Amino acid sequence: MHLSGDRLLDDLVKLGEIGAREESGRTRLVLTPEDFEARRFLITRMKEARMQVRVDQVGNIIGRRGNSTKDDLPVLAFGSHIDTVPSAGTLDGCYGVLAGLEVIRTLNDERAETRHPLELISFSNEEGVRFPMMIGSKVASGIMDLETAYELRDNAGITYRQALEAGGLLEGALVAARRTPGEIGAWLELHIEQGPILESERLKIGVVESIVGLVHMLVTIQGRAGHAGTTPMNARRDPMLAAAQIILEVNKIGRELSRSSVGTVGLLNVQPGAMNVIPGKVEVGIDLRDTSGERIDQGMQKVRSAIDAVCKKLGLEYTTRERARLAPQPMSRKVMGSIELAARRLGASYKVMPSGAGHDTQNMARICETGMIFVPSKGGVSHAPDEWTDPTDLALGANVLLETLLELDRT
Ligand code: GLV
Ligand code: MN
Ligand code: MN
Repeated sequence: MHLSGDRLLDDLVKLGEIGAREESGRTRLVLTPEDFEARRFLITRMKEARMQVRVDQVGNIIGRRGNSTKDDLPVLAFGSHIDTVPSAGTLDGCYGVLAGLEVIRTLNDERAETRHPLELISFSNEEGVRFPMMIGSKVASGIMDLETAYELRDNAGITYRQALEAGGLLEGALVAARRTPGEIGAWLELHIEQGPILESERLKIGVVESIVGLVHMLVTIQGRAGHAGTTPMNARRDPMLAAAQIILEVNKIGRELSRSSVGTVGLLNVQPGAMNVIPGKVEVGIDLRDTSGERIDQGMQKVRSAIDAVCKKLGLEYTTRERARLAPQPMSRKVMGSIELAARRLGASYKVMPSGAGHDTQNMARICETGMIFVPSKGGVSHAPDEWTDPTDLALGANVLLETLLELDRT
């Protein structure tokens, strides 16, 4: 059985148009009008592929293919997410979902039955830009309970529950989001690598062996707003100075903690935010990652000490709040073996490698066997509008997904 990439590419372009703005990619933060439009697009496509579609209590979209010979066997599930970061490319998340859809359509075209029921899942709020990361898979896997998820707030104070309601997603009979133990046998996520390794080594497929862990922390530094022209330099309480030093410290810790560690400040909220005003308050968003959970804790300890020292020296008050945490997660040996077998059958060069990006897969590992398939990213670029993968590689990755599912279905 072989899948043609044409319909997949067509769908990627169409989904990529939703929320697109010239020069700045597309922005589909979760549970915004753009995300709702993307959800409608996906649900329509799923129904066209004769899937039974349901949306659960946290907004995960689940399409089930009915043609299995043993409906009581655990589900083989696969997919990814369709929400994006601001100014995103077309592939992060969407590729895994739409390739999964194309797998289903190919099975339909071939009138193929599987032993296990198949479910294509698009997890809600993977990116965690508006709300803390990966609410959909955290609730599905039991890492977060539903009430906690519902009470999470965005910057405007809107709760996740209110945002779901605004999209009409909490109307009617609701489907439980939490998956029961044993219900899902395996979860597979096909994704672009988002880094430079496969391209630089001229390899076609990455078999993911582990996913990094991460912590997101928000630091709020309080200063005293004032006139930029009249306040003498030695009479200021400027939280931006602390932010600047914290940014340098996070970069240093990211470089020095271990070979796998990375540290980033990608968010600065400056208030009131004008060139001629000394800021009164600055919020700094920190992302620290490592393959070891212990080292993340050590790194965060260093980050906290640095923040404390910097703010004390400048006489500034501050608070910190952990916004999200993901544990590092090894993948299932069995699923990795099936992916390797599939790659070999398709004559695709591959390597076993870690993932530096976070994925819903690391949460799903709590309740089932999990695996991830990577395809090369041009220039290693992702979370940016020029994210790109050669269409031949996209089709090959989708075929590896199909072949891996068929292999897992046999066992
Ligand atoms: C998910 O996109 C991440 O930030 O790794
Ligand atoms: Mn992703
Ligand atoms: Mn992403």
